[in-house]
Amino acid sequence: MHIFLTGATGYIGSAVLDAMIKGGHQVTAIARDPEKAERLLARGATPIIAELGLPKYYVPALKATEAVVHAAHESSPRGVALEQQALETMLQAQVEASRADGKPRSFLYTSGVWVLGRTAKSAEEDAPLDPPEHVAWRPAHEDMVLSAFSGTLRTAVIRPGIVYGGGRGIVSDLIKDALNGLVRVVGPGKNRWPCVYDHDLGDLYVKILESPMAAGIFHATDEADERVSEIVEAIAGQVPQRPDIRNMPMAEARKKLGAYADCLALDQKVRSPKARALGWAPTQSGAVNSVARLVEEFRNAQREANNQ
Ligand SMILES: NC(=O)c1ccc[n+]([C@@H]2O[C@H](COP(=O)([O-])OP(=O)(O)OC[C@H]3O[C@@H](n4cnc5c(N)ncnc54)[C@H](OP(=O)(O)O)[C@@H]3O)[C@@H](O)[C@H]2O)c1
Repeated sequence: MHIFLTGATGYIGSAVLDAMIKGGHQVTAIARDPEKAERLLARGATPIIAELGLPKYYVPALKATEAVVHAAHESSPRGVALEQQALETMLQAQVEASRADGKPRSFLYTSGVWVLGRTAKSAEEDAPLDPPEHVAWRPAHEDMVLSAFSGTLRTAVIRPGIVYGGGRGIVSDLIKDALNGLVRVVGPGKNRWPCVYDHDLGDLYVKILESPMAAGIFHATDEADERVSEIVEAIAGQVPQRPDIRNMPMAEARKKLGAYADCLALDQKVRSPKARALGWAPTQSGAVNSVARLVEEFRNAQREANNQ
């Protein structure tokens, strides 16, 4: 399959790119500068220099592909409006391309489990949404993608849990802090984080792309229901010198991190039955069980970054 990928230089996008290349797919991916484009080329993609806000640089290439995977996100004040505009542009381009050549298209959108809010019981894909302020905009973007579904455009929304593995993301930040001697936890840390291993997440995107009937919402979680305090304890026990662990009161965390703090404090139990029904079986059963691997992967990623 020929796939157009946004965010290929990012944390999720790079795991998705690797899984696509491993699966034998052809990938055209956007990069915002020539150096990153070179790195995408080395990973097996065909890079084009483009940015979400300038569609004329990427729409022609997108129209030539069979599927679009959107894993980019700009975390600036304009990021939400930019995404809304880019989603409209990409979905419209796929409709036009399908009309022109008569071939069906697929669109996969990367959302996240935080849209569910605190889950009183295990949340499956049909659970009601209760997004905290930081992601209050996200359900409208999910709806835009889901409602674009048609006879010729298959659309899916993937809601990953907190991603672990490699050198980036929230769990890697905990590892980095532990290696530096101090880990700060938002709130008491008794809340459960739904998590997913980056390679397993990449494999799920490929499974969805390769399953012609797969559409709608897909949760992507390892279902380990680990508490933040358990993850932090496991990391603290895995680094050479036990770090200090400090629980930040919520008021202080909100002052430091803004509305993002409430996402980190969410207590969530999230199930992924639709992904499992496709035959997706995560290889890693939680960050705690994988902690030795995760610290090793983090160190390797640091070494690689230092050599670049
Ligand atoms: N990480 C997680 O644990 C997690 C969990 C659930 C959901 N999500 C969601 O998944 C999405 C991706 O997250 P991530 O962790 O992979 O983020 P990330 O590592 O920050 O990657 C963001 C990607 O978007 C690209 N990008 C940013 N602004 C762009 C623009 N204006 N034009 C083109 N590309 C642009 C970045 O390119 P550059 O390399 O040039 O900066 C990068 O490739 C987000 O919507 C996030 O909320 C993440």
